Amino acid sequence: MIILLVTCLAAILCPTAHSTDSTVAWCYHEPACNFTKWPKIVSQFCNGSRQSPIDIVTANVQANPKLTTFNFTGFGDNATFMTILNSGDSVVVNLDGDTMTVEGGDLPGLYTSVQFHLHWGNGSSGPGSEHTVDGKKYPMELHIVNVHSKYNGSVKEALAANDTTGLAVLGFFIEGTNDTSNTKSWKILTSYLSNITNAGNTTSDIMNQITMDSLLENVDRTKYYRYQGSLTTPSCNEVVIWTVFKDTIKVSHELISLFSSTVHFKDTSPQILITNNFRGVQSLNGRVVTSQVAGTVTSALPSSATATSFCITTIFLFSSLCWL
Ligand SMILES: *[C@@H]1O[C@H](CO)[C@@H](O)[C@H](O)[C@H]1NC(C)=O
Ligand SMILES: *[C@@H]1O[C@H](CO)[C@@H](O)[C@H](O)[C@H]1NC(C)=O
Ligand SMILES: *[C@@H]1O[C@H](CO)[C@@H](O)[C@H](O)[C@H]1NC(C)=O
Ligand SMILES: *[C@@H]1O[C@H](CO)[C@@H](O)[C@H](O)[C@H]1NC(C)=O
Ligand SMILES: *[C@@H]1O[C@H](CO)[C@@H](O)[C@H](O)[C@H]1NC(C)=O
Ligand SMILES: *[C@@H]1O[C@H](CO)[C@@H](O)[C@H](O)[C@H]1NC(C)=O
Ligand SMILES: *[C@@H]1O[C@H](CO)[C@@H](O)[C@H](O)[C@H]1NC(C)=O
Ligand SMILES: *[C@@H]1O[C@H](CO)[C@@H](O)[C@H](O)[C@H]1NC(C)=O
Ligand SMILES: *[C@@H]1O[C@H](CO)[C@@H](O)[C@H](O)[C@H]1NC(C)=O
Ligand SMILES: *[C@@H]1O[C@H](CO)[C@@H](O)[C@H](O)[C@H]1NC(C)=O
Ligand SMILES: [Zn+2]
Repeated sequence: MIILLVTCLAAILCPTAHSTDSTVAWCYHEPACNFTKWPKIVSQFCNGSRQSPIDIVTANVQANPKLTTFNFTGFGDNATFMTILNSGDSVVVNLDGDTMTVEGGDLPGLYTSVQFHLHWGNGSSGPGSEHTVDGKKYPMELHIVNVHSKYNGSVKEALAANDTTGLAVLGFFIEGTNDTSNTKSWKILTSYLSNITNAGNTTSDIMNQITMDSLLENVDRTKYYRYQGSLTTPSCNEVVIWTVFKDTIKVSHELISLFSSTVHFKDTSPQILITNNFRGVQSLNGRVVTSQVAGTVTSALPSSATATSFCITTIFLFSSLCWL
């Protein structure tokens, strides 16, 4: 009887949230289980030292000439969007991994595209992105999740292997625009939000209408940041090669606002709209962010180390000129 009472009380009082297993619960919207608590309540990986997202300090970005262009396959195919789902903490579009793949861009092999999902704030003007650039947050962030082809499209297998190159996530910042002419595909995508207002709702009637390319229209996909990190939701596994593109997707303010005004979190009574479903930035702990070009140090005086490397580079450049 007492056990029953305690269980009932716990069910009533404990924050309603998402579970990766029966003992842990995490959330975005309650102080008791928001991301500041994840390192405690989901400690296996969320307390790790290579966590995501991060703040990208552009002045510290190092050049890596190996960050070449990607080969995107199936991104122009309108039959790849299988279902759109309210997962209870985001909106997820499941992709046909048999046709969508990514390689190149210094990724170690071929990756199968599994799904994409979004992170947002509250409305179109506030912060909503996970990654930040020099402290700047964007209204939304889109993540395309790709799993190494050796795992046969199974994210679960990649997580079980605890393989640091198991997943490759492509992150795109979304910015608000007043120009509505350019966002037809986003209009179609967001029109389905009203069909998935409750957690667990899914619709599969989105076939043959949208391509990944059309959602990424006008985004320069050759310039990006690269670093080694983790899933940004529990269990925060450190298995992700992150690519964060510099160029942004432009979506109209109205369509951005639909996310935070239409779909609801999992297990809340009364229902709560999904807002601010992003994790705060994590410590770099010595990790280096790379890009095609190094960040420009804009501070007044170069450090002695910078000065030394400048001298060496200069000497090297001049000596290579002599060889020409
Ligand atoms: C998360 O919870 C802490 C208290 O645990 C609170 O101080 C903080 O404001 C909350 N942050 C967000 C983003 O909800
Ligand atoms: C994180 O928590 C786990 C489980 O409690 C512990 O084994 C591990 O040492 C902790 N790691 C860090 C970096 O604190
Ligand atoms: C990308 O595709 C081009 C043309 O099909 C091919 O030559 C190149 O080897 C591919 N690169 C990678 C890394 O797969
Ligand atoms: C989101 O913004 C609306 C007003 O636009 C406000 O009523 C609501 O409380 C906000 N939600 C959160 C979680 O801040
Ligand atoms: C993937 O599929 C291949 C062939 O079907 C199989 O040999 C391999 O064990 C599978 N790998 C995983 C991780 O499931
Ligand atoms: C996962 O791999 C990392 C190294 O990449 C290692 O430090 C950690 O102990 C591994 N964790 C588990 C649970 O195997
Ligand atoms: C966009 O529209 C808003 C409200 O209508 C206006 O305040 C803002 O100045 C516009 N921005 C641009 C860049 O035109
Ligand atoms: C959405 O989920 C709610 C609650 O689980 C359910 O009652 C409703 O039938 C679902 N609607 C659709 C369109 O699937
Ligand atoms: C979405 O909902 C609208 C009405 O709100 C309905 O007409 C339409 O058939 C639904 N579409 C799907 C794919 O469930
Ligand atoms: C989807 O692609 C097929 C093949 O390219 C094309 O015939 C069809 O018109 C496209 N559908 C839409 C709605 O654009
Ligand atoms: Zn994400």
